[in-house]
Amino acid sequence: MAFKDYSFAEIMNRRRIYVNDVALRDGLQIEPCFVPTEDKIRMVNALSRTGLNKIEVTSFTSPKAIPALRDAEPVMMEIDRVPGVRYVALAPNMRGAERAMACKVDEINLVMSASETHNLCNTRMTLKQSRSVLTDIIQAARGQAAVNISISTAFGCPMEGAVDPKAVLALGDWFVEHGADGITLCDTTGMANPLQVSELAEGLDLRWKGVELTLHFHNTRGMGLANVIAGIAVGVDHYDASLSGLGGCPYAPGATGNICTEDLVHMLHAMDMETGVDLDRLIACASQMPALVGHDVPGAVLRAGKSDARFAPPADLEDIRHRALVRGDM
Ligand code: COA
Ligand code: ZN
Repeated sequence: MAFKDYSFAEIMNRRRIYVNDVALRDGLQIEPCFVPTEDKIRMVNALSRTGLNKIEVTSFTSPKAIPALRDAEPVMMEIDRVPGVRYVALAPNMRGAERAMACKVDEINLVMSASETHNLCNTRMTLKQSRSVLTDIIQAARGQAAVNISISTAFGCPMEGAVDPKAVLALGDWFVEHGADGITLCDTTGMANPLQVSELAEGLDLRWKGVELTLHFHNTRGMGLANVIAGIAVGVDHYDASLSGLGGCPYAPGATGNICTEDLVHMLHAMDMETGVDLDRLIACASQMPALVGHDVPGAVLRAGKSDARFAPPADLEDIRHRALVRGDM
C-alpha cells in the first residue's frame, strides 16, 4: 500500500494501530535521578489499565551502566500482570536475558545497532559479536519468552552519519531467519525523516511476514509524529512511544526524548484511528511524570490539553463584536 494508490483518508482509516509504552525503560534510563521502585511499580500498574499493547517495564543491564534501572528484578516481579498486556524488558546480553527470563517477562527486547560505532559504545560488542550473541539468546529463550530485536541507529548514527538501508535490512533478515518474533527499527537520535521512513519500511510487512514490525522514533528534531504517519502509510501498525516524551540512549551523543505516547494516541484518535487506549487515563498517568523525574517533560498534550478542549472567550467578546459591526462592511 502506498500514497499513490489510495487517498490519505483510506490509508489512515484502514486499521488499528498498536502502541507500546517505553517510558519506564527508554524514558528512565537517561534520567540522572533514581525513581523509587514503588513509584515505578505504581506507574506500570496505572499504565496497564490504559489499554496499551505492550509496556517495556525495565532493562536487565549492568547496574553500573544504567543505574536508574538497577531495580529491574523487584519491579518486574512485583507489578500486576494485566491479561492482554505484554510485559517486556530490554536485555543487552545473555546475562540480562537470563535475568529477564527468571522474572518471567513475556518478551525480551534485545538491542544491537546498525552502526558499529554506536554498537560498541552501547553494548561493548562489534556488530559480528552482537549478531552471534543475540542469535544464541533467541535459541535460549525458545519456549520461555518471545524475542524482539531492536535495531538501533537504523535511520542514521550520531557518530558515523548515514547508515546503509541495505545493511539494516540484511540485519533484520538475519534475525527473522534465526527465529526472532519481532523486529523494531529504531531512530535512536531523531535523524529519520518521513521520506526515509517510507523508503526503508515499505514492503517490510511482506519481507518479514509473520514477524511483528515496530517503529521506534525519537522526537529530537521534531520529526517524530510525521515519521509515524509515513510508517502507517506503508503498512506499519506498531509504534513505540514514551509517556510524557521522556527518553534517550545514554550512549548516543545528543539523544533526547522518544515520541510522546499521549501525543501519539491523541493524534491517532483525532484522525479516528483505533488504538484501544483510553486517552484520559493515559494523560492522567503522564501528568505524574514531572513529579517522578523532578523536571518538566516534553509532552505537548499534557501542556496544551486535548484539541477538543474549549476555552471561555474573553469577557468583552460582545463589545468586540459590537465594535466590529459598527465598523460596517469593509
Ligand atoms: N546484568 C547485570 N550486570 C551485568 C550485565 C547484566 N546484563 N552484563 C554485564 N554485567 C556486569 C558484569 O557482571 C560486570 O560487573 P563487575 O564490574 O562488577 O564485574 C560489569 O557489568 C561489566 O561486565 P562486562 O561483561 O565486562 O560488560 P561490559 O563492560 O562489556 O558492558 C553491557 C556490557 C552491555 C552489559 C553494559 O555496557 C550495559 O549494560 N550497557 C547498557 C546498554 C543499554 O542499556 N543502553 C541503552 C538501551 S539502548
Ligand atoms: Zn529509544
